[in-house]
Amino acid sequence: MGQNTRKAILRMGAVGILAAAIVAAGCAKKPPKPETSEEKGKRLFSQLGCNACHSVDGTTGVGPTMKGLYGSEVKLVGGGTVNADDAYIRESITDPDAKTVEGFSKGVMATAVSQQQVAQDGNLDALVTYIKSLGGDHAH
Ligand code: HEC
Repeated sequence: MGQNTRKAILRMGAVGILAAAIVAAGCAKKPPKPETSEEKGKRLFSQLGCNACHSVDGTTGVGPTMKGLYGSEVKLVGGGTVNADDAYIRESITDPDAKTVEGFSKGVMATAVSQQQVAQDGNLDALVTYIKSLGGDHAH
């Protein structure tokens, strides 16, 4: 290998490193936008498997749809109704058998949901925010 060839290779290497540095700097300038609570809730809704039983488009599955739930009046097993406010949605997630929606089975959700995961890192708040975004007066 001649001297000139070796120099040329070294120069190309330097250009490569420079290009990589520019690309890296470009990435560093644009950090990914932190997800909103609603986005986090949406992600968790599938990551924690909620979507296996709950649709968000009005279709009934193993469980009731989340569409339009927030602010609606929910009929319960054994008669009676409850207003689907924050507290009810929270309770439905953390203590699924506290109240059972008419037409659905008790115990199904309770065994399927990891309360440990729900309790982590503000996950519950995010799920509630997401469900609220799908429902009633607060739909958008
Ligand atoms: C294995 C199926 C299943 C999974 C998984 C599941 N659920 Fe449920 N869920 C149900 C069923 C069935 C009901 C209705 C019976 C009851 O009230 O417990 C219900 C009820 C609810 C309700 C009350 C709905 C209403 O119309 O009043 C909410 C809110 C809810 N689930 C949220 C969630 C969230 C959030 C997750 C994920 C962390 C989840 N569920 C995972 C089956 C499931």
